[in-house]
Amino acid sequence: MRPKIINNEAHEATKLSLFSVQIDPNYVDSTTQPDPFKHYPKFYRRFPLDLENPFHSFLHFCSTITYQKIYREGAYALRVNPSAGALYPTEIYVQIRGVKGILDGIYHLEVETNSLTLIYELIDDGLEGYLLDNRLIKGCIFLVSCVYFRSSWKYKNRSLRYCFLDSGHHLGVIEASAYAQDYTSQILFDFDQLALNDDLGFENKEFVTAAIIVGNLKEKQIRRLRSPIPFVCGTDYFEPNRFVESGYKQTLLTTNHQPEILQPQFNFEKTKLIESIQNRRSARRFQKSEITQEAFFAVWESLNQPIATPSYEVIEIYAVIQSVAGIEAGIYRGKDGLKAGNFRDKMGYLCVNQAIARDSAVVFFFVSEFQNYRVALQLAGLLGQRVYLSATYVGLGCSGIGAFFDDETQAFLDVKGSILYAIAIG
Ligand SMILES: Cc1cc2nc3c(=O)[nH]c(=O)nc-3n(C[C@H](O)[C@H](O)[C@H](O)COP(=O)(O)O)c2cc1C
Repeated sequence: MRPKIINNEAHEATKLSLFSVQIDPNYVDSTTQPDPFKHYPKFYRRFPLDLENPFHSFLHFCSTITYQKIYREGAYALRVNPSAGALYPTEIYVQIRGVKGILDGIYHLEVETNSLTLIYELIDDGLEGYLLDNRLIKGCIFLVSCVYFRSSWKYKNRSLRYCFLDSGHHLGVIEASAYAQDYTSQILFDFDQLALNDDLGFENKEFVTAAIIVGNLKEKQIRRLRSPIPFVCGTDYFEPNRFVESGYKQTLLTTNHQPEILQPQFNFEKTKLIESIQNRRSARRFQKSEITQEAFFAVWESLNQPIATPSYEVIEIYAVIQSVAGIEAGIYRGKDGLKAGNFRDKMGYLCVNQAIARDSAVVFFFVSEFQNYRVALQLAGLLGQRVYLSATYVGLGCSGIGAFFDDETQAFLDVKGSILYAIAIG
């Protein structure tokens, strides 16, 4: 028996419907957008990443700018990770221990300058004190956090979803960058986040969503940070959103655990994977053209690989096939055809009248009767990142779709679980 759905209120309270988007179309004055980059003070020591060094290159591709776009209102710096509305609430911190040539410490990955900013030097203490069984980790511990106001500025309460989905995407980039360097990784969702938020100096303005370990466990025990890190605001101004703050806190309960942690085995050639991380972009339109079965199954295969985490949530994958050579159009769950038909107009409508959903070759939906909302959304985001990267790898376009009419999509797919995320390829 699945346990009762616990923190479903946040999902219920942030559903979109035809009515809700009419009364609140989400218009914002772009000149009031909060700063999308966190800056530690100038006097902190910074270490530029050198792409010739494989370890530096691994860190670089975990969080970096890959494209500059110039608009009338100003320049947009697009990154390895996609983000709802390109608002980039996520920040990455990495503890590095026992790596030759790098001082043992906790660093902020400063995407704007491609450098590591040293925010804390380790002695006998470290992030291990908040994780697992406190055992020393030689290598890296990444923390993904959210400076939530960057997203709540526009998306209000629904930004809670986007913070978690964006965090999942960032985990997916780190998973891929580690894979490209032959490192194994393990994702943790269940640890003492409240204490970490305090000790990292996040106040109520930033919160940790997950950790990912790329390193080896040793027998030594490590204690928590001996002194807290000073508060530095991730934005130039701040407006609190109590719904998001309490929605996050409600997800800090223990998650279900699975007995065995398996590593994904992707069919990616390593250098081509790095190129895909570098070149990944969101498609802004599709041409209704047909894709090959081979390309479709390459994407499908990446979705079916295990996620290396002790946490457990079932994410069901539905595919609305619109144009794949040799496969009848219709709704599929896994490989099972549920209902044949051409649903292009319906797809466009359900995704809040977005042509990308109508014109794509396939729209995937991630559905879950989750126990922990934060974990389920991050797993959906991570799977979304696999779709982006595998689609890029085989030459397809892709776009995440966070805006859909929740109840109508659920009814269309005829599912009990909540719709967490949609993603289109073509
Ligand atoms: C959680 C999430 C939801 C998104 N939702 C939409 C959407 O509903 N419609 C859309 O056109 N793009 C959507 N996107 C794509 C973003 O607009 C895109 O990632 C962002 O503009 C940055 O561009 P890039 O992905 O090319 O780097 C979404 C992305 C994410 C990660």
